[in-house]
Amino acid sequence: MERIQSAISKARAAREGKVPGTAAAPQAATQPGSPSPAAATGTAPAAWDALSEVVIPSKVLAKHRIVTNIPGPAATAFDVIRTRVLQQMRAQGWKRLAITSPDPACGKTMMCLNLAFSLARQPELRTVVVELDLRRPSMERTLELQTRHQFSKTLDGGADVADHLARVRGLNLAIATNHAAVRNSAELLHAPTAETTLAEIERRYAPDLLIVDLPPTQVGDDVMAFARRVDCVLIVAAAGATSIAEVDHCERELAAQTNVLGVVLNKCRYLDKHQSYDAYSY
Ligand SMILES: Nc1ncnc2c1ncn2[C@@H]1O[C@H](COP(=O)(O)OP(=O)(O)OP(=O)(O)O)[C@@H](O)[C@H]1O
Ligand SMILES: [Mg+2]
Repeated sequence: MERIQSAISKARAAREGKVPGTAAAPQAATQPGSPSPAAATGTAPAAWDALSEVVIPSKVLAKHRIVTNIPGPAATAFDVIRTRVLQQMRAQGWKRLAITSPDPACGKTMMCLNLAFSLARQPELRTVVVELDLRRPSMERTLELQTRHQFSKTLDGGADVADHLARVRGLNLAIATNHAAVRNSAELLHAPTAETTLAEIERRYAPDLLIVDLPPTQVGDDVMAFARRVDCVLIVAAAGATSIAEVDHCERELAAQTNVLGVVLNKCRYLDKHQSYDAYSY
């Protein structure tokens, strides 16, 4: 697994007049957010236990670079991000996290699922992942699911969330996926009923964390239509592919709508001595 470095973007450092650096902890922006309704940790609601289940073999996860179902060196970088994100979200009373990137193929879905499986190793937490990249849904394929769910149908009230959400067997993790792309994705994400759907998930299943996989910001207006509905957002950039200017622009646009937790630099090719430490400890 290549290095995945959690960092505040150099652009932000430059904007704030600091020396650009790497590996800074993700930080909550100063803009106040509106926490979503509190969810109770503890005994799972009956609706959670009643969800249909999917089985996802470890070899399927490994094939798609999802490595956090098993603790170890490969999972460590994601576990660090998980813990930082959790600490910041808990401190603010936030429950909804979105993941996006400026351009396509930066690793959003990979990050989203690795965070989710990392969180699922903490059995006291309930996590719901919602795929809202409706232009190019990929989770069903990535996880090799046979569910043929279409979560987008719930966004305008046309379907019940329970019919498009499945628990991963043995874990406190549920995933809402989409079998096919939809044309009116921005309209669905913008509609007030999208908020109703998220609130319904929180009411019924009381997740500690709701993670939303979004499309890239530069591809249409989906992210801007939806960003206000989450408490915070994590930006994924791809080393060698995403420019600092793109990260800067993306961060500024998002910061006007929600709280930017930080930028994760993915697809780095080299490890420094701290990142490679774990490789020697197992
Ligand atoms: N750290 C990494 N090293 C090598 N390949 C990676 C890494 N992270 C992701 N990939 C690969 O890059 C491709 C894109 O990843 P992913 O689908 O997670 O990106 P995405 O940002 O969600 O893309 P999209 O914009 O299409 O939704 C996948 O083939 C994935 O396996
Ligand atoms: Mg994706």
